[in-house]
Amino acid sequence: MGDLIRVGIAGVGAYAPERAMHNSELEKLVETSDEWIQQRTGIRSRRIAAPDEAASDLAREASLRALAEGDISPEEVDLIICATVSGDQPFPATACRIGADIGATRAGGWDLGAACSGWVFGAQVAAQFIATGTYKCVLVVGVEKLSSIVDYQNRETCVLFGDGAGATVFTPYERAQRAEYLGGSTCMEGAQEDVLMVPGGGSRHPASHETIEQRLHYIHMGGKKVYRFAVKTLADLVKTSVEPYGWDELGLVVPHQVNLRIIESAAERIDLPMEKVYTNIQSFGNTSAASVPLALNEAMEAGKLEKGKLVCMPAFGAGMAWGHVLVRW
Ligand SMILES: CC(C)(COP(=O)(O)OP(=O)(O)OC[C@H]1O[C@@H](n2cnc3c(N)ncnc32)[C@H](O)[C@@H]1OP(=O)(O)O)[C@@H](O)C(=O)NCCC(=O)NCCS
Repeated sequence: MGDLIRVGIAGVGAYAPERAMHNSELEKLVETSDEWIQQRTGIRSRRIAAPDEAASDLAREASLRALAEGDISPEEVDLIICATVSGDQPFPATACRIGADIGATRAGGWDLGAACSGWVFGAQVAAQFIATGTYKCVLVVGVEKLSSIVDYQNRETCVLFGDGAGATVFTPYERAQRAEYLGGSTCMEGAQEDVLMVPGGGSRHPASHETIEQRLHYIHMGGKKVYRFAVKTLADLVKTSVEPYGWDELGLVVPHQVNLRIIESAAERIDLPMEKVYTNIQSFGNTSAASVPLALNEAMEAGKLEKGKLVCMPAFGAGMAWGHVLVRW
């Protein structure tokens, strides 16, 4: 293995289903109100996939858009990492379907299950493969059809989550000519399943009539614990990754879109003005692994990513697992 190769993000793309589910619709399903949801989470609506639309369908569109944006053909893709907790099925990997659907005839691939930190972890794996020269083109797609695992009888969770996909193509910097990968982190504190999980359908509680009756195939969450953990983690990740470069270097923080109040509290904690933080949770909700690349794509399209400035992308979620990716756009 020779010298490490500089890594960049050559393509970014996203896709969200057409149907927007507004808070008013949830008012008809559970005892909640538009006012409560907006006040506590900042969310006004979220996108919901059609019944016949699977995670791979969302991922296909996002991936094709990212490849087009980077002027890269599907045959060039060496590896597909699909970050998701709501893939098409437990196995085979959703990445295999995505590869076939986009025509990535040479690519290998697999799924990465790290919930809301999925894309951030996948991006770091991609960067290692490019940096070592093993691969020249790695597609990392974060995708979720969370509406398939959300309990629309549980007001504590159903208001939070949405569907979507975001994709990024990692190549040597020489090709990308932007978004140089500077580093990242992957952290974990285990044995916290009760904080955020789908309890049923795995080897601990295999699918049965009982798991269905007990609604164990849906997302279960201990909201308050996530809240406290998320504020501190988001603030620490941004502070420790940006500070060594100097705050003047920071262009934008594109955080996991967990909850607007959490993001605002974290920014306040480190005196970061909200102009430096990109949010789109208002219209997408929390889309777990899709949230960071979906927001990154929007920020890019809105012209908010300044050439030469740092873009910090922190994420955290079930596991608990958290980390960040830092690039110089
Ligand atoms: C879930 C969350 C929005 C709740 O907000 P909160 O400010 O902590 O809510 P509070 O504790 O002040 O209020 C809870 C009360 O609201 C009720 N409540 C919960 N969801 C509600 C809803 N959708 N509508 C109306 N009331 C609701 C609860 O039942 C509880 O009632 P009680 O006090 O009678 O028991 C918040 O904790 C949160 O966002 N946590 C993080 C969750 C998350 O993002 N998870 C994904 C991480 S990747």
